[in-house]
Amino acid sequence: VTPLPRLLDTLRCHAALPFERAESLPPELYHRADVYELEQERIFRREWMAVARAADLAQPGDWQAFDLAGEPVLLVCGADGRLRVLSRVCRHRGLDLGHGQPAQRGNARSFQCPYHLWTYRLDGTLLGAPEMERSRAFSRERCALPEFALEVWQGFVFVSLDREAAPLAPRLREVEPALGGIDLSGWASGGVLGWGRADVNWKVAMENACECYHHLGTHGTTLQPLWPAQEVVLDASPDDWVASRLRVSAEAATGVDAGHRVHPTFFPAAPGLTPQQRSETLILGVFPMFFVVIAPDHAFWFRWLPTGPESHELDIHLLVPAATREEPGFAERAAALLELARGVQAEDCATNVAVQRCLHARAAAPGPLSHHERPLWQLQRWLAERLAPVGA
Ligand SMILES: [Fe+2]
Repeated sequence: VTPLPRLLDTLRCHAALPFERAESLPPELYHRADVYELEQERIFRREWMAVARAADLAQPGDWQAFDLAGEPVLLVCGADGRLRVLSRVCRHRGLDLGHGQPAQRGNARSFQCPYHLWTYRLDGTLLGAPEMERSRAFSRERCALPEFALEVWQGFVFVSLDREAAPLAPRLREVEPALGGIDLSGWASGGVLGWGRADVNWKVAMENACECYHHLGTHGTTLQPLWPAQEVVLDASPDDWVASRLRVSAEAATGVDAGHRVHPTFFPAAPGLTPQQRSETLILGVFPMFFVVIAPDHAFWFRWLPTGPESHELDIHLLVPAATREEPGFAERAAALLELARGVQAEDCATNVAVQRCLHARAAAPGPLSHHERPLWQLQRWLAERLAPVGA
């Protein structure tokens, strides 16, 4: 076993290679508990994670519960209509407010700890605590649930456990030109594919998602005929985000408009797209784990949460322009589209699970990256900056 400081030196060396000489990372970075613990501390307890769609928490009292980097949290829409992300740990003796409750979402007027029935308002302030009037240590004001940082961008709710986190909005403003005017803020849910747990390190999943080279193999009969790997174009981008344009193949195109192939659609295309946008599916990844696939008529958002060195949870959300939900036959077509997504995800997941297993092999070692895999090199540089900064 390589000592952690030496492994991090190797990461720094990989990240310092020019892209033409880039290689995949040492396999140990993908399964060791000490590496994951460092990632929790430097990445998942600090960075912004997309956890929900604001539209799914639009009514006062709407809530969702989940754990982020081991921290039990509650996303809730307040009586004032404001979204907050609160700790789920009772300020009395620390029980999870959701203890014994299998539901992970719902609508509530308040939250009650099942241990001693302390009750909190939707904004996290304490509403009441029985039998506490004789305690001189008790004050209602001091017993509010801690609140973490939250921002909404394009309708996605991002949270950070680091109250000192640099604001997310300026960083994402730099991503917006890649969207070319597409604004997902008003897009509605077209359904969710609950994938659940995958026994795969988060980086294996993100690397797979951010390159299309594997359309050749993993998706040889599904995506490759639609979006040939050879025709995918990567935008120039700094190290913290990546954008790929998947041009529809000549065979799958439904026509040509102003010299651009026309991408097939399930629903009417979003209004206002240029002929070029109408010809491609855009993949956007923002590190560590924001990932969305935007076709001319719909989008898939991958809601990922790492849960351990070799596991994560995944839900795939179908998003559509709001008017699309009123289309005749929408429910059936959306269900069919989610089934297609399930098939493609099954291909990716089978590959990722097998890669994860082989990363433990004695013979596993870094290999050279193709020019299609620039996003992996960018992720290496982003990781090195956080896990192995120069001079640390
Ligand atoms: Fe894939």
